[in-house]
Amino acid sequence: MTSIQAFRLFSIAGAFLVGFWLPIRLIGFMPPAIMEFSFDLLISATSAVNIYLHFYDRGDSPREWRNWLRLGPILDLICLMPLAFIAFLILGPDFHFLLVLNLPTVRHVRQIRPFLDYFDSLQPIVYRLVPLVVTLPLLVHLIACGWIALGSGSAETDSDPLLTYVKAVYWTFTTLTTVGYGDIVARSIPQMLYACVVQVIGVGVFGYILSNVAGLLARSDAAREHHMDNLDKVETFMKLHQTPADLRAKIRAYYHYIWTNKKGYQDRALLESLPGHIQSELYLHINRSIIEKVPFLRGAEQDLLAELMNELKTRVCVPDERIFKVGDPGDALYFIHSGDVRIVGRGGEQIAYLSEGAFFGEMALISDRPRTANAMASGYCDLYVLSKESFSKVATAHPTFLDHVQEVMNERRSA
Ligand code: CMP
Repeated sequence: MTSIQAFRLFSIAGAFLVGFWLPIRLIGFMPPAIMEFSFDLLISATSAVNIYLHFYDRGDSPREWRNWLRLGPILDLICLMPLAFIAFLILGPDFHFLLVLNLPTVRHVRQIRPFLDYFDSLQPIVYRLVPLVVTLPLLVHLIACGWIALGSGSAETDSDPLLTYVKAVYWTFTTLTTVGYGDIVARSIPQMLYACVVQVIGVGVFGYILSNVAGLLARSDAAREHHMDNLDKVETFMKLHQTPADLRAKIRAYYHYIWTNKKGYQDRALLESLPGHIQSELYLHINRSIIEKVPFLRGAEQDLLAELMNELKTRVCVPDERIFKVGDPGDALYFIHSGDVRIVGRGGEQIAYLSEGAFFGEMALISDRPRTANAMASGYCDLYVLSKESFSKVATAHPTFLDHVQEVMNERRSA
């Protein structure tokens, strides 16, 4: 953990403690002097850290006096003063309301977000829930203490302070989430006004919580949602165009295959927004399985692999799909990642049966002539496609690649 992270953690802990301590203190709890001054010290220390974080986050220089003329540092400077000490030793015990000036320290609980930003492997759900879990109890506590300060409505102040507090928390929850159950009601005008304000806050706070929870549930299985959404659109499309039943079955089977093998995502579209060099690294990583499957790529130089992986695109073929036919222009070279491909001659005779790790389509590409045979997917096939342009690019930069492809082509021709 870096020192800045440690400061942020200190600031969050300080805000949390002050947020619980101050309201209790302000509604009349009289602590022993040692406790009072310890908290005073804690608030001052937290404020010093908060001032430091303020300048650090904004990138401002604290040497420039103008940078201090902002609300943030001014509030923190006020909290930096030993207010409890001033109130009790200099002004007298009647001035304990001065402590309210320390309340702005609580706002630094928001440091939780930059603190979480540091952990790059956090699940989005944690990132959203933790700030809520931290701030909600603080808010409830603050409102409950405010309610006690106003006399606790019809519940009135009990001789047991714990019971008074629990009743106030109960009132806060029912008022924040609904309009209350009516068992504890506001009696005086200030209490009624306070209840109105809390209800309005409740609309915002619980609206925020509900929308977050709903969002989290919807996103908990985003891949499936995305797939279902695609299926819905395809079904509507097929109905609209009165697609024959056997074609519908094929389309559904295709989507099922994409879902079970790729969780509904076709790699490229998702990654295209990344900067070039990160894309290359990522493609090298996600396409490493094709490197392991194609024998001649296993020992190939890193440069060649990086360039090749960058250029390869994926294609899924359904059973009996014709990948190309005799006479088509040679527009790409294909690597078989999974599945089998049949090479069929003009008269329908099978010339070859190629499996995982093999490549095909090189003859038309190298000789610049039309395809010499048909290529058919035997079952579902995952192919990696290298376009003609990409092939020329890679072949020019890496003659060993071209040599190998030519070697295989010559073997096939003489077979
Ligand atoms: P191309 O001519 O571009 O298209 C048909 C492809 O079938 C051809 O390239 C080769 O990749 C492949 N092919 C042709 N003959 C054979 C063979 N005997 N064994 C394996 N593959 C072949």
